[in-house]
Amino acid sequence: MHPQTNRQFVLAARPNGMPTADTFKLIETPIPELKDGEVLVRAVYLSVDPYMRGRISGMRSYAAPVEVGQVMVGGGVAKVVESKNPDFKPGDFVDIYMGWQEYSISNGKNIRKLDPSIPVSTAEGVLGMTGLTAYFGLLDVCDPKPGETVVVSGAAGAVGSVVGQIAKIKGCHTVGIAGGDDKVAWILEECGYDAAFNYKTTNDYSGRLKELCPQGIDVYFDNVGGPITDAIFGLLNVGARISICGQISQYNNTRLEMGPRLLGALIVARAKVQGFLVSDYASRFGPALMELAGWVRAGKIKYREDIVEGFENLPSAFIGLFSGANTGKRLVHVS
Ligand SMILES: NC(=O)c1ccc[n+]([C@@H]2O[C@H](COP(=O)([O-])OP(=O)(O)OC[C@H]3O[C@@H](n4cnc5c(N)ncnc54)[C@H](OP(=O)(O)O)[C@@H]3O)[C@@H](O)[C@H]2O)c1
Repeated sequence: MHPQTNRQFVLAARPNGMPTADTFKLIETPIPELKDGEVLVRAVYLSVDPYMRGRISGMRSYAAPVEVGQVMVGGGVAKVVESKNPDFKPGDFVDIYMGWQEYSISNGKNIRKLDPSIPVSTAEGVLGMTGLTAYFGLLDVCDPKPGETVVVSGAAGAVGSVVGQIAKIKGCHTVGIAGGDDKVAWILEECGYDAAFNYKTTNDYSGRLKELCPQGIDVYFDNVGGPITDAIFGLLNVGARISICGQISQYNNTRLEMGPRLLGALIVARAKVQGFLVSDYASRFGPALMELAGWVRAGKIKYREDIVEGFENLPSAFIGLFSGANTGKRLVHVS
């Protein structure tokens, strides 16, 4: 039977600083009948990601913001419930950029059918956007060599946990920085990081890095920015590469943070710093996903999913990313 009502989270107001429950509003809307070529899907897992903070801000970014009143954007795994498109049948699982809503109608373009023999949730994580971010941000931007020291901030998150494991596959010495003893234990024991520290129990980030990187730093994969990133500059080896993936420590700032001026250290190290966007690598996703899937199958990449139950918990699941409530890839299980 055709479902009648959709539940959607729309942007209620642009946040000033940390988003709150009032940033989003839950509304109900009718679900139209399908036209020829269309597919109706129901969300199974919806992804919450730090980049969404940029979408609800009015500041200049690489993508258009969500307007107040519009459905919040985001990726998800969904199940086809009705189809008037010969390429999809009820029961198929798809990867779809459907936003924060229970149902979505697609014209069949820009949705990817998933192999149900692989856990479908991985399409939003290790075998999806965050795994691909780790892959290209490390391999393409930094080209790590065996024996080099790779430091990763946000190391117990969706991207960071995979970066360390790819670096290990490439024969590097891996050092992770994460916000909790349990997170540090997980990346050391499960993800195979060679060394790690909890930045929430020390102020001496440089001292800890000096201890854990006796040969200096060749590659820094930055997920967080701020004082953690400041600490790496004095330890860079000649020819170091820095991949700027994310700056989550800055996303809720209401004023630009003034940091120490460290660019001179890049001259000393003749180092390269590069920002990147995973979407720029879209034409190479296919082979990258094959390689990532091979590593997962071989047990060379372990992953953790941090599943929050219930559609209505999307806002709190998202807000929790900014206090480190998640370990690994955070998803909301909808149905
Ligand atoms: N460039 C791209 O194409 C691209 C694509 C995807 C993601 N990203 C970026 O990559 C980064 C990681 O994304 P993800 O999806 O893997 O998220 P995630 O790491 O799974 O979750 C966010 C983590 O950030 C850490 N964090 C939050 N506030 C922090 C702060 N003030 N200082 C330091 N750490 C803080 C928390 O871990 P702790 O407990 O360790 O603090 C939290 O668990 C984000 O910055 C994101 O914007 C970029």
